[in-house]
Amino acid sequence: QTQNPPTRNPSWTHSFDTPEERYLKSSLRPDFHWGFATAAAQVEGAAFTHGKGLSCWDTFCHIPGKIKDSSTNDDSCRSYDFYKQDVALMKSYGVTAYRFSLAWSRIIPLGGADDPVNEEGIKYYSDLIDELLANGITPFVTLFHWDIPQTLEDRYLGMLNQERYTPDFLRYARLCFSRFGDRIKHWITYNEPGVYTLAGYAAGVHAPGRSSFRDRNAEGDSSTEPFIVAHTELVTHGLAAKLYKQEFQPTQKGTIGITLHGNWSEPWDISDLLDVAAAERAREFEIGWFAEPLYGSGDYPASMRAQLGDRLPTFTEEEKRLVRGSSEFYGMNTYTSFFVRHRDSPPDINDHKGNIEVFDKNKSGVSRGEESDTQWLRTAPWGFRKLLRWIWNRYHIPIYMTENGTTAKGEKEPSDTILNDTHRVEFFRGYVGELAKAVKEDGVDIQSYFAWTFTDNWEWAAGYTDRFGVTYIDFDSPKKTRYPKRSAYFLQDFFSHLIA
Ligand code: NOJ
Repeated sequence: QTQNPPTRNPSWTHSFDTPEERYLKSSLRPDFHWGFATAAAQVEGAAFTHGKGLSCWDTFCHIPGKIKDSSTNDDSCRSYDFYKQDVALMKSYGVTAYRFSLAWSRIIPLGGADDPVNEEGIKYYSDLIDELLANGITPFVTLFHWDIPQTLEDRYLGMLNQERYTPDFLRYARLCFSRFGDRIKHWITYNEPGVYTLAGYAAGVHAPGRSSFRDRNAEGDSSTEPFIVAHTELVTHGLAAKLYKQEFQPTQKGTIGITLHGNWSEPWDISDLLDVAAAERAREFEIGWFAEPLYGSGDYPASMRAQLGDRLPTFTEEEKRLVRGSSEFYGMNTYTSFFVRHRDSPPDINDHKGNIEVFDKNKSGVSRGEESDTQWLRTAPWGFRKLLRWIWNRYHIPIYMTENGTTAKGEKEPSDTILNDTHRVEFFRGYVGELAKAVKEDGVDIQSYFAWTFTDNWEWAAGYTDRFGVTYIDFDSPKKTRYPKRSAYFLQDFFSHLIA
């Protein structure tokens, strides 16, 4: 693990002296956690070595045509090999916490309840945890960030088979709690269960690539499968949380929850009641789908039931009791906002959004947000604040911001101008500033902020074409050389200003 220590360009200074920034000084609690989030399949590499089994993404990315730049995640950032150097770099950025995921197939290569454990995989995560703690960085761990063991797909179609999947997931969860729980005090069961199921089972653009959308040549029934998989995620989240609370929490004293995705939906015309209702419906389809069973009524939103009927599974009373209140915090991932308009025509079978029209581009010269080079990643901090208030007013539960970030235009070479990523700096200035205002002015209880992400990495179906990192990676170099971008130091400076 030998690479040069990073250097901060001396011209990269940041002051926070606008009246608003001065007013926000020290507005975050002293024990506020800030840092970066990553996922095993996007950063680790070592996909076929050290005893690891195949995940669904290891197989999916080798199918021609699935990944935009035909890349694979076989090596990605090689953080498996360079974790010590990465922890040192994070420390130099001043973080207090790091959120990463465990690769199930590294720990139990075949995935199942009776399959053997890979002690080398356990040791890797154990060493990473120790390295973080030795450097004063609090680890947050996600059990499932989309990389189900391929064997479980082959055996019984993974989460489509709730009955067979449940004991396998619970055995994996129990093993992690028992082997890492002495040092891990923040557990996240699932990352973005909604994206996992919509991208993997409706659009079919993510593993396992099932879909019956017209013009898509994949297996599956997109009219029901996404909702079945979501149900499995909710119920098994509830079971894992119960297991943790009963068997581990009394001695380990950690906390457990789930991370949901969600972007703000803004009515296209706020004076049109139909658009206002459509935007609320969009939020319920995107966020309420999971949040209502977890934090609200204990059931799916009425708007979803009305449109989807029995395509949406039904909770038994026991499942409702299990799921409701199971998550001890609201893990939030958010990236952008959308304008939403009512649609008169009835929803078709492939509509998973609540019979709405979504605009991700500015129309009619209305400019309420900028676009980055990835269309849906439009910078819209005003929407973030509204989203925080919406969640807080409905559910009144502490929020962990578990992901937020952006790509930036044209980051192809590690030149001075690319490292000076002012677009990303302005994104973070806006979003983190709105977060501080939500805490200070709206009384929202926010306890962490994890930026997405630490280094450029493998962005699923987009391969290496979308760079989200505050650290540039030269993916052509054997050691995946890291170059700090300005935004890393911006976050360091901004959080020093904001945390009391
Ligand atoms: C959310 C996902 O959790 C993460 O894996 C992904 O890379 C980012 N969004 C950016 O698309």
